[in-house]
Amino acid sequence: MTWSEAEGARRAREVFARELGGAPEGVWSAPGRVNLIGEHTDYNSGLALPIALPHRTFAALRRREDGRIRVVSAQRPGEPIEAMLAELAPPSTFGWAGYVLGVAWSLREAGLLSAGFDLALDSCVPVGAGLSSSAALECAMAVGLAGHAPTDVLIPACVRAENDFVGAPTGAMDQTVSLRAQAGHALLIDFADGSLEQIPFTAELLVIDTRAEHALADGEYARRRAECARAAELAGVATLRELTTVPADPVLAARARHVASENARVLEFAAELRGPAPALPRLGALLNASHDSLRDDFEVSCRELDVAVDAARAAGAYGARMTGGGFGGSAIALVEPGAAAVVRAEVAEAFRRAGLGAPTFSTAVASSGALTE
Ligand code: GLA
Repeated sequence: MTWSEAEGARRAREVFARELGGAPEGVWSAPGRVNLIGEHTDYNSGLALPIALPHRTFAALRRREDGRIRVVSAQRPGEPIEAMLAELAPPSTFGWAGYVLGVAWSLREAGLLSAGFDLALDSCVPVGAGLSSSAALECAMAVGLAGHAPTDVLIPACVRAENDFVGAPTGAMDQTVSLRAQAGHALLIDFADGSLEQIPFTAELLVIDTRAEHALADGEYARRRAECARAAELAGVATLRELTTVPADPVLAARARHVASENARVLEFAAELRGPAPALPRLGALLNASHDSLRDDFEVSCRELDVAVDAARAAGAYGARMTGGGFGGSAIALVEPGAAAVVRAEVAEAFRRAGLGAPTFSTAVASSGALTE
């Protein structure tokens, strides 16, 4: 379920008044995302093509002069957090609020925040579904507290909150699209030079939340990232984007193969979208190839994601793939308009037959980021 901007703002104001007292100065919001294609490429100076979801996180904010920070969330009832801005330092010991206080910390470090604040959050971005609820939270806050700053300052500030304060070694895809997406467009991001291109994307995607926990996610994500760095280092290049030789080590070779082939698929997908009549079967084939590469070469899929993808394809989707970091979370399927109900039913049935808990479904159209309507 998604909320309109007015509905989200109303809810965040209500939480603010109830838990913190009085009224906020304003309410800012930012979306979650699904990545169409270009996975595990962002931290390799590669290419990605995400869209913003219609699901958003809403941040009701009021500055205070005493340097104190108070945070409440409708998703964490009875767990308010208090801290002093001047005392914030990594590593985070704040549990769920680590991302929030991480943004405050990194904005302070960047010279963009000197006052404390009261913050009430409410969100319709599903948590733990691999749809970047954390980036939505970070970006909603960042535009509320420092929205005047250029995005090439805000994006790294939000990424630092995750990397340096929370200790999650993620790339910059989620924050980039959450801040800069435009409705009706996918965002082509080139992480080598930070360039962005808005490409019309009007198809409706089926999003399948496998409900699989990201049990190994943190350690395995960091390991993949280290393997990519090692492959580049052995070849004497700064990042896998510049790699021209195949690493001797078979595991590193497979990781490098994924990154190179995935970058090529992003370019093909983008080229197809720019054409006069994007062919859904061609886009679907690229999604399929992306998933197979993530499963076999990068080894970040899991049983639930594979069951979802296989069942969606068998039910007639043009293509399907895991989206996001992997090891659980969500898959996306590109389906004929009107055929989504059949694909949903077949995926649900495949989960039942495999003895897996029921997945949940939603649809996504490319929506607006925090900074653009
Ligand atoms: C997670 C990270 C992103 C990106 C993807 C994989 O979503 O937050 O930075 O690395 O995994 O493409």
